[in-house]
Amino acid sequence: MTDKNVISSLCQKAIDMRSESYAPYSDFAVGSAVLLSDGTVYTGCNIENSAFGPSICAERTAIFKAVSEGRKDFVAIAIAGGKRDGELQYCAPCGVCRQVMREFCDSSFKICLAKSAEDYKEFTLGELLPESFGPDNLS
Ligand code: THU
Repeated sequence: MTDKNVISSLCQKAIDMRSESYAPYSDFAVGSAVLLSDGTVYTGCNIENSAFGPSICAERTAIFKAVSEGRKDFVAIAIAGGKRDGELQYCAPCGVCRQVMREFCDSSFKICLAKSAEDYKEFTLGELLPESFGPDNLS
């Protein structure tokens, strides 16, 4: 399910989603694509707000779209971010998005930081959020 072709196509979907980014304040366009266990993909982009606080990252947009449709069987996410007219960076998820991933995903959840469909860095959630607090702490 997470072979190279699947991850490459996930990265490309994240890159394509940057065109939907609403980021007039930072001019930093981010797209994301999250893969579910049956191959379904939900996409997202960052959506900013003039009051700043209500802004949302691309990763949470994609994850919340999936959860709102009853899907939580996450396998991997691709993220593509950079200044609107600049080069793509290896754009790592912010702390809030890592914590949202922690809510629904296990430590082997894959996080791919894409500069292109072929050029990406891959991490697990366990690597990016070690010693974390999660639902199990409250059970
Ligand atoms: N942003 C994301 O959407 N995802 C990230 O991984 C990093 C940051 C957004 C939030 C804000 O709209 C803009 O990028 C600049 O921080």
